[in-house]
Amino acid sequence: MRGAHVLTADGFDVGALRALFALADRALPFASGARVTEVLRGAVLASLFFEPSTRTRLSFGSAFARLGGQVLETAGEASSSIVKGETLADTARMLSAYADVIVLRHPLEGAVAELARASSVPVINGGDGAGEHPTQALLDLYTIVRERGGFDRLAGLRIVLVGDLKHGRTVHSLVRLLALVPGVRCTLVAPDGLGLPESVRARVPGLDLVDEPSLDAGLRDQDVVYVTRLQEERFPTKADAARFRGAYALDRARFVASCRPDTVLMHPLPRDLRPGARELSDDLDGLPNLAIFRQAANGVPIRMALFLAVLGAEDGLEAAEIPKRFNR
Ligand code: NCD
Repeated sequence: MRGAHVLTADGFDVGALRALFALADRALPFASGARVTEVLRGAVLASLFFEPSTRTRLSFGSAFARLGGQVLETAGEASSSIVKGETLADTARMLSAYADVIVLRHPLEGAVAELARASSVPVINGGDGAGEHPTQALLDLYTIVRERGGFDRLAGLRIVLVGDLKHGRTVHSLVRLLALVPGVRCTLVAPDGLGLPESVRARVPGLDLVDEPSLDAGLRDQDVVYVTRLQEERFPTKADAARFRGAYALDRARFVASCRPDTVLMHPLPRDLRPGARELSDDLDGLPNLAIFRQAANGVPIRMALFLAVLGAEDGLEAAEIPKRFNR
């Protein structure tokens, strides 16, 4: 992956995933702060988030900092020169002089690829509109591997994806990775009109996709339940989105009634806990099946692994270890 852009979940194969997850396993003690490394000392990340983000922005920043690198950030389109009419291509040319790697989140599908075309350093897609979110899919699959106890236990996985599958870029990337695993059955539970787009289905011809309008039926006999938020910001008006608000709401009673005791419960977060939404209720908190905070934590080792891979620094991770001088 050295020097490569990470724009889509297309292009990974099982060998690349296994190698990346093995690298993420090595990064775990450094991600948690138990050990300290300076492998990326002197390296600079340019982090541009032109849409709201907590987890993705800060876990990319944490990953780079935990590797000993420096993070430069511009927090919104309004605080960058894009508002003065600058193109993504011009932005890319300059950032290539300031940084060794660029992460961009942008409201328009395809915008990250546009930036990458003019960049001479690797560009990582932190989410492009309703397009893709490849690093989230990598951390999602890594979470499934860890929750189930190994990559070899993925074959034949039964997973249900719930919610706004039309605009949910995390699922658009996740199905591409699931398609690489033999025998996966992927059930899709979405309100009428918010199903998985044909353009995405066409990318995963070998994946067993089963449309199921009923949430209760869809929850039955699954290894993983993956719930998503209504992507209100992708609708023309708030009223258009409101029609779908609360279409599917999973709480503890419903989970216990329909799911197996060992079903892993995931969500890319943020979950919408405002009244009328609540697609994943906080009465599930404390249930050992609820993997959402372990899932969010896995963003750091996965993003560390990606930085190490695109910067060709895999071998230095432990070699650049230094004594730890802080306690937490
Ligand atoms: C997701 C996103 O931005 O696509 N969030 C994330 O990165 N974890 C999901 C969402 O916003 O619903």
